[in-house]
Amino acid sequence: MTTTLRTDLPTLADTARRMAHAGRGILAADESIKTMSSRLEQEGIPSSEKARRDYRELLITADGLSDSVSGVIWCDETFAQDLSDGRPFPQAARELGILPGIKVDTGTSKLPGGGGALITEGLDGLGDRLASYAERGAAFAKWRAVFDVATITLYSARANGHALARYAALSQQHGIVPIVEPEVLCTGDHNLGASAQASSLALSVAFDELAQADVDLSGIVLKPNFVTPGLDAPAATARTVAAATFGVLSDTVPPAVAGIAFLSGGQPTSHVCEALRELHRLGDRPWPVTFSFGRALVSDALSAWGGDARNVATAQQILVDNCRQAGQAIR
Ligand code: 13P
Repeated sequence: MTTTLRTDLPTLADTARRMAHAGRGILAADESIKTMSSRLEQEGIPSSEKARRDYRELLITADGLSDSVSGVIWCDETFAQDLSDGRPFPQAARELGILPGIKVDTGTSKLPGGGGALITEGLDGLGDRLASYAERGAAFAKWRAVFDVATITLYSARANGHALARYAALSQQHGIVPIVEPEVLCTGDHNLGASAQASSLALSVAFDELAQADVDLSGIVLKPNFVTPGLDAPAATARTVAAATFGVLSDTVPPAVAGIAFLSGGQPTSHVCEALRELHRLGDRPWPVTFSFGRALVSDALSAWGGDARNVATAQQILVDNCRQAGQAIR
């Protein structure tokens, strides 16, 4: 049998560039079934497979979404569902000019010997799952490591960095761009310096592990937190957050990385958009910066929808306005 090398497929670097360039960002709608169910229930919407599907359909079919959104991340359940018109979600996204992505970690557990730190799970069987997602059209994947300022140690950074690197290398082997997400949580009352220190440790160790695993940095997107005081501490200005974040990223993130897409961490939409705008304004950045926000884009839309079909258009408008606000921060 002869195999023909396809030359028409985008390279990992092409895809990573498309995800993070040109004033567009990534919509994170990949809450696990458990998290999504509890978010629906908080809004008084009984959770079901159909309710979760209807909500994700509302998001992806919002008119004008692709003007500021280059990619969308879903969990396994959504990735395998169909829109009400019968099209699979990944196909519908591509037809709308939006790259479909899949969260492939399976959540966290306590890291044995880690003094309360968490380890992200999901490496077992990951190769087979990636092959299946690639076949079903996934352009990129996401794996989230989670650190708390109070419990991060070199050991927990190494254990999670190693898992991130194995996931990233395996994703690239399957032609899928890995989003590498070492998140330092902003819950707590720590100050900016503590966030900077924890973020530096998480990022420097992760890039060390990525190098050991020979991951092609031009084919990844980094998804970090903003360096910011804890949500229960006095807030810093957007300019201060941007300067602190830039300081940490310049020290730890190699210039070869294709792009940096920030998470919102439960902070208000205007706050994270302003921090992104300030960061984007700073000169001499080797990597493009963009957003990969979840709650900052969708929370208000979910509330406005409330599970009622009559509110779909209003909810979609809120989503698109939030995405536009984030997109304008990087133009
Ligand atoms: P938030 O923006 O709500 O923090 O979520 C982004 C995300 O995907 C976390 O993994």
